[in-house]
Amino acid sequence: MNKLIITIDGPSGSGKTTLGRAISQKLDVTFFSSGSIYRVITKHFLDTNSLGFENFEIISLEPLEIRIDQHTYIEKDLYTKELNTKSSELAQQIEIRETVDNILKFVESSAENGLVVEGRDMGSVVFPDATLKIYLDADENIRSTRRIEQSNNQETTEDIVERDRRDITRKNSPLVVPKDAITLKNNTSTVDELVDEVIKNLELQ
Ligand code: DC
Repeated sequence: MNKLIITIDGPSGSGKTTLGRAISQKLDVTFFSSGSIYRVITKHFLDTNSLGFENFEIISLEPLEIRIDQHTYIEKDLYTKELNTKSSELAQQIEIRETVDNILKFVESSAENGLVVEGRDMGSVVFPDATLKIYLDADENIRSTRRIEQSNNQETTEDIVERDRRDITRKNSPLVVPKDAITLKNNTSTVDELVDEVIKNLELQ
């Protein structure tokens, strides 16, 4: 039997991380946010002024801790306003995307029980043979309110609109609805309702 892989793609603030974690707990599989790798590589670049590195090691998944060469990065330092913007800018480069894709494939090969992975191109590019592909969306005003709250009012609606525009219009692996994905709207549903919907669809596969 093929390993269970569930991909969740969607714009910022659609609730991918919350839903992904809830599905992974329900199914007892690994959860991973691909954006965290774009963020950590960007942080390393800002700290060292270098995009290259010799060693990349995931020390812990929850909470995320990563070592790049002799630098150690922890999850809570990756979610700043600066990294929101800069990671989206660097993610346009094909070389960076190839590096991240290889790291994600390694994460998948280590996730013995299965994987729920979220991002912008998980179902469309990185895991085209996933068991179930989800495109999670929500109205712009709802997504924007969520992101502003999550960033303690640091991120503005304009920042979010610009980041989404960049992620959707870039040449390499833009955010799209993967062709065989189910689309879920996360406006008023509870997390439990969304998880139930996902499990229902999983049983149909
Ligand atoms: O999901 P996130 O906000 O942590 O992602 C940060 C940025 O990384 C996002 O604005 C674009 C980029 N990203 C990407 O290009 N592809 C992915 N699969 C995940 C994130």
